[in-house]
This record gives sequence, structure tokens and C-alpha cells, in this order.
Amino acid sequence: MRHLIDPLDFSLEETDRLLALATDIIREPGRFAHLCDGRILATLFYEPSTRTRLSFESAMMRLGGKVLGFAGADMSSAAKGESVADTARMVSGYADIIAMRHFKEGAPYVASRYAGVPVINAGDGGHQHPTQTLTDLLTILRCRGKIGGTTIGLCGDLKFGRTVHSLIKALARYEDMRFVFISPDELKVPGYIVKEVVRPSGHPYESTRAMEDVMPQLDILYMTRVQRERFFNEEDYVRLKDSYVLTADKLRTAKPDLAILHPLPRVNEISPEVDDDPRAKYFEQARNGVFVRMALILALLGLAPEVLQERGA
Ligand code: NCD
Repeated sequence: MRHLIDPLDFSLEETDRLLALATDIIREPGRFAHLCDGRILATLFYEPSTRTRLSFESAMMRLGGKVLGFAGADMSSAAKGESVADTARMVSGYADIIAMRHFKEGAPYVASRYAGVPVINAGDGGHQHPTQTLTDLLTILRCRGKIGGTTIGLCGDLKFGRTVHSLIKALARYEDMRFVFISPDELKVPGYIVKEVVRPSGHPYESTRAMEDVMPQLDILYMTRVQRERFFNEEDYVRLKDSYVLTADKLRTAKPDLAILHPLPRVNEISPEVDDDPRAKYFEQARNGVFVRMALILALLGLAPEVLQERGA
């Protein structure tokens, strides 16, 4: 049985095959409409979510399956003190696959050790968010026709933003990448990611505070929200929250084929006037999340055997 807890749980080849399956689903959704008839997805969300939970539910329903779950720790027995391990064991009797979001780093991993069904990490604290990464990869692929050979600027809260951490891990495996980290000093990419992922990859990278200086180089601009809920005090959040606001004016020097991505929700880091720019791809990105999650559910349930390699244990 396979789970998806960390982006590197799937090999590069498996990831590429999953993206190919998602592309097939986009082309011919009808072929996939009943593959999950009679199957159940449980969405166990201990933290707020709109896109991730709804796109998981939409994905399962578009495959013919059904969904159950909760959307808030206070709505579940966690409020009574139940452990993640017990919840995972029990829900395995109610559903065929579990998507879990948790405020504690590592909680979905713990669930995967106890569950009798595949577990998907739908975001764990400030750590990882592998299904957002699959969404991001599919969007880059569809915008550029390839993933490698790309200069990506990641901008905003690179410290607490789990989508950034997972995306860097996944992209570092592609060829000929270049990373530009754009953030205030206080919100830089964690040292362990630079040391364990970016440097060993051998890809060139730079860090800057000035978005305008690097704009002309970028093929992808990945904007992120300052993660208020991960700050230790409100004062720091207030000081840093408006560090970057992307406006039409700042895009004047950008490439004509730049793609602007954002995992959403945005607060004010992308001005609404940018939405009309054809380079704004974030709503398309959110839509891609459904197709990639359809492909993921099929792969983990063994219904798309071409995607994942057999592994021991
Ligand atoms: C992201 C998350 O939850 O980490 N949202 C999402 O899943 N699309 C990004 C964020 O909350 O800022």
C-alpha cells in the first residue's frame, strides 16, 4: 500500500506518469467517471481549507465515488482528546482512502502508520503540502509544455509556507532549474531546505528582497500569503504582511510568457487588477487541483496501475 505524505514519496517517473494521467483526465473526463463507483474518500481536516478539501471531494465525486469527513478539529472526536492514530485506524473501516490536513507537522505521517488504507497529506502545519505541489507541477507543465529549464521566483512567506517547501523539493529533481527566493529576511526559506534540498541539487539559486530587480528573469512567479496562523506574535505579522503586493505596474518588466501562480487564498499580495492579465494563472491552477487529485486517488487505489511502481511494504 502506498501513501503520499512527502513529495518525494513518489519517484520522478511516478510523478510524471501521474501528471500524464491528470492530462488524460482533462482531455477525456468521461472515461474516468465511474472508476470509483462504490468507493469512499474520507476528508479529515483539522485545519481550515476551501480549495484542498473541496477539490478532493469534487475529484472523488467526478470519479463516481462518495465522500465523508469533517472540516474542523472541533467537529471531531479530537475535541474529546482522541489521537490521530486511533482516528486513522477507525476511519479505515469507514473509507477506502483518507485525505488528512492537520496543524501538527507529521500528523498525516502518523496516520499512515496506523491506517489500513492509503493516506494523503493534505497539508501538515508549516511542513509539507504534496498535493498542492502536484497541482503546481501540472500547471507549470500546461503553461510551459515542460517543467525543467525554468527560472522560478518564489515570493512571500518562504519560511512558514508549506506549499513552497514541497514545491522546492519536487522541482529540485528536474533538470536545469533556477530558483530565486524573494522574501524579507525574517521569512526566508528554512536553512534545512537550502542545505538538504537546494544545494545538493546543484541548481543555481539566489535570495533577494527586491521583487522588481529579478522580475525580468522569471518564467514562473509563485506568490504566497504571509501565514498569519504560524506567527508567534501578531506584531510581527502586521509588520510583514504587506511585504509584497504584485501590481500591474510591477509586471511591466516581466516576460510576456511569465506564468503567475498562487496556491490561494490570497489576502492582498496580488492586486485584483492583475487577474485580467493573461499571465495570471492562479484560478486555472486551482482548477487543475481537481484533475491531479483524481489521478492521485486512482493511483493510490490501484485503479491506474501504470502510475506507481510496486514496492516492498
Ligand atoms: C495553501 C495551504 O493551505 O498551505 N492553501 C491551499 O491549500 N491551496 C496556502 C495558504 O494557505 O496560504
